[in-house]
Amino acid sequence: MAMEETFIIIKPEAVAKQLVGEILARFERKGLYIKKLGVTQIEEEVAREHYAHHRDKPFFPHLIEAMTCGPVILAVLEGEDAVAQVRNIVGATDPAKAAPGTIRGDFALRLPYNMVHAADSPDNAQAEIRRFFG
Ligand SMILES: Nc1ncnc2c1ncn2[C@@H]1O[C@H](COP(=O)(O)OP(=O)(O)OP(=O)(O)O)[C@@H](O)[C@H]1O
Ligand SMILES: [Mg+2]
Repeated sequence: MAMEETFIIIKPEAVAKQLVGEILARFERKGLYIKKLGVTQIEEEVAREHYAHHRDKPFFPHLIEAMTCGPVILAVLEGEDAVAQVRNIVGATDPAKAAPGTIRGDFALRLPYNMVHAADSPDNAQAEIRRFFG
């Protein structure tokens, strides 16, 4: 398996709950490397583009508000099979169904507040890295 990059966002609710170190530590303990790291507040326009595939869903306005209401951490992580490994560590989309031991299973209760975004394919990871790091 080749080295691969993935992209994550530690969402505003996780920054507000002071879980940034805990979350980054889980990826590092697994053996992934932090290649880029930043703190920013996401503009509404950028959030709408990032989650464009959900624009017709009833929860879209709530999701955009949740992503833009405070600072976030942006990170590029690298390692073997990084996209799939990171998605496993993050857990299922709905924190009510995410397994204990995953970030969403351990730290979140209900949608849309699931603590972390993680890219779902290598191509999307590269597009998101360009969107957020330029
Ligand atoms: N039914 C829902 N109700 C409210 N919010 C939702 C719902 N489904 C998804 N979301 C929100 O939209 C985000 C994007 O959903 P997606 O289907 O891409 O899941 P994901 O790939 O597990 O999450 P992400 O893209 O954030 O890593 C979720 O992380 C969550 O915050
Ligand atoms: Mg997704």
